[in-house]
Amino acid sequence: MKPESPTTAIPEHGAVPRHVAVIMDGNGRWAKQRHMPRFAGHRRGVEAVRGTVQACAARGVEYLTLFAFSSENWRRPADEVALLMQLFNLALTSEVQKLHRNGIRLRVVGDLSRFDARMRTLIEQGERTTAGNMRLTLTIAANYGGRWDILQALGRLLREHPETAHGPIEEAQLAPYLAMSYAPEPDLFIRTGGEQRVSNFLLWQLAYSELYFTETLWPDFDAAALDAAIASYARRERRFGRTSEQLEEAKRAQSAATGALA
Ligand code: IPE
Ligand code: IPE
Ligand code: MG
Repeated sequence: MKPESPTTAIPEHGAVPRHVAVIMDGNGRWAKQRHMPRFAGHRRGVEAVRGTVQACAARGVEYLTLFAFSSENWRRPADEVALLMQLFNLALTSEVQKLHRNGIRLRVVGDLSRFDARMRTLIEQGERTTAGNMRLTLTIAANYGGRWDILQALGRLLREHPETAHGPIEEAQLAPYLAMSYAPEPDLFIRTGGEQRVSNFLLWQLAYSELYFTETLWPDFDAAALDAAIASYARRERRFGRTSEQLEEAKRAQSAATGALA
């Protein structure tokens, strides 16, 4: 499926977003509230991932993108980074078959060159095993940064098409080189844990996403919390720079056209 840019066409606004992107934040605070080590929060976070993947698939979300580790998270204490890598390894080993059985396609985006060979092999195998699945595409952003993404895309475009260096570069020329070129841009962005920032997540792709912030800490995020976010999304009017009246007019023209076809 070709990813359409929502800035050039008025996409259909269903009650359920096609693409949900999530910053899973608050694991450390969840653990701290319980006088547990931060790692315990990360472990519970993996359970919340399982629940969210299932809930999204059940609701007909087509793409779910989860920020698991940012390019800035290497700045954390070495033992926390090591534990996060271990958890990621474990999840890749134990979850891929389950994803596959559930019709879920796995993709991992980010600068994978920083991971060890074993991890890269697990990622490759996981992606290969699940490549044909159509129910939901689960993307894990690992060692991902929005600025890295734009720069690597530009670098690849210029390497493959050196002639573009001379003229103005169009959005449509760069888009195929972005890490998530296989997906439409996120309709709904969720950040748990109460912070209201993007933290170098999908900078390019979030241009017209609906933003939703919740105080709920990631380990507590469940199907009901997802439904609250989706309900908020369903109430939004996505104008993409246009006016309300233009949207009404487009809707009227659309229903007249479908009426004529019936
Ligand atoms: C998010 O939870 C998980 C990762 C960044 C890997 P945090 O670990 O950032 O939790 P808080 O923000 O400290 O509570
Ligand atoms: C963002 O959370 C990254 C992930 C959830 C993977 P952080 O906890 O790292 O974000 P900041 O540092 O508070 O902005
Ligand atoms: Mg955090």
